[in-house]
Amino acid sequence: MDEIEYRPGLDGVPAVQTRISFLDLEHEQIIIRGYDLIELAKQLSYLEVGYLLLYGDLPQPDQLNALEATIRRHQAAIPPDLGPIYAALGERLHPMDALRTGISALAADQADQGGLDPLRGDGLEDTLIRLWALVPVMIAQAHSARTHKPFPEPRADLPFAANFLWMLTGVKPSPLETQVFDRLLILYSEHEMPNSTFAARVIASSLADPYGALTGAVAALKGPLHGGANEAVMQMLQAVSGPEAMEAYLLDRLQAKARIMGFGHRVYMHRPDPRAVMTKALLADLVSEKGGSALKAMCEVGERVMREQKGLYPNLDYYAAPVYHLLGIATELFTPIFFAARTAGLAAHLREQYGNNRLFRPRVIYLGPRGLTVKDGDRG
Ligand code: CMC
Repeated sequence: MDEIEYRPGLDGVPAVQTRISFLDLEHEQIIIRGYDLIELAKQLSYLEVGYLLLYGDLPQPDQLNALEATIRRHQAAIPPDLGPIYAALGERLHPMDALRTGISALAADQADQGGLDPLRGDGLEDTLIRLWALVPVMIAQAHSARTHKPFPEPRADLPFAANFLWMLTGVKPSPLETQVFDRLLILYSEHEMPNSTFAARVIASSLADPYGALTGAVAALKGPLHGGANEAVMQMLQAVSGPEAMEAYLLDRLQAKARIMGFGHRVYMHRPDPRAVMTKALLADLVSEKGGSALKAMCEVGERVMREQKGLYPNLDYYAAPVYHLLGIATELFTPIFFAARTAGLAAHLREQYGNNRLFRPRVIYLGPRGLTVKDGDRG
């Protein structure tokens, strides 16, 4: 055991062999099933990318139509148990925690039909698509319960991204808003082996069901070092009075050795995150239609200061926060949206894990004592 190199946080250690995605640092690309994620975000819809993730190929029109119909069918069949659960949780829980509870509760429908065995029959795909379809609905439902507002029911006449935005805000989005949101969903859809994907695959490797695996993934993604960063970025931007104050604010925080949310990344620590580059451009598009130039300027000051002071670049969460804000989305929903988008990638990972499973069971490097014996004086 002792001769195996220990790398805290499993930094750089391969956890799985996968055909889903890869961060190709040499070519500065995020490869999704062979394609460059940024190109996919420019050319395809989120549902097309989700299909690619899940099945490995781009969909033919009839396959895309069938996927869309399945998603609509699931979204139209919201389990009646969920409303009362969210109402009971009230204002106490963050929407990520409500989502974690909701996903777990969703399993009840399939439990008595034996549908929770991921290896039994051909129900796995439908379960994964059901989760993918219902996560956005659950987020919107939980938010409505928490804010005591009526729940905007899913609209079958709107495409996936527009419908999701509608459920979050209660306002039908413009074509530009829909396009920006759809692209952001794509950018968030998959990213190789982040903490939450690893968590989901570890849970699935015991042959636990997909509801359990995604419940664990929500818990992992909520942390501020992971998905929770986008919410923290918005809180920071709101705490600063404008572009002029941003530099002084950051210098102060850095002086105090604080971690600035939205900067740095385990894999791209001192290089640009391609997703952040595209999201910055999406922010500019949105600002030209809706205003918000002070917010944009503040972000740009932050980017410059962090590069000069720490050699750090923004990650996806940095520019996503002002984009969501300008789309009229409540800050507490930013991380749940990350999870909703990522459900497509997670579904692909669960399918891959169950399809070629071996239980995750690593070892430790033991630093504690050995050979102790219990003596009378040792016990309180
Ligand atoms: N602000 C200030 N210093 C930083 C930051 C930051 N955002 N990120 C890294 N550093 C410094 C850190 O203090 C450390 O310095 P030193 O060596 O002097 O102690 C060095 O960089 C290495 O940091 P680390 O925490 O050991 O590196 P890591 O690979 O474990 O951390 C990270 C990666 C994402 C947790 C970290 O960059 C961070 O905390 N960023 C802020 C949170 C954030 O934006 N998270 C979203 C990540 S992207 C979306 C996602 O995948 O969830």
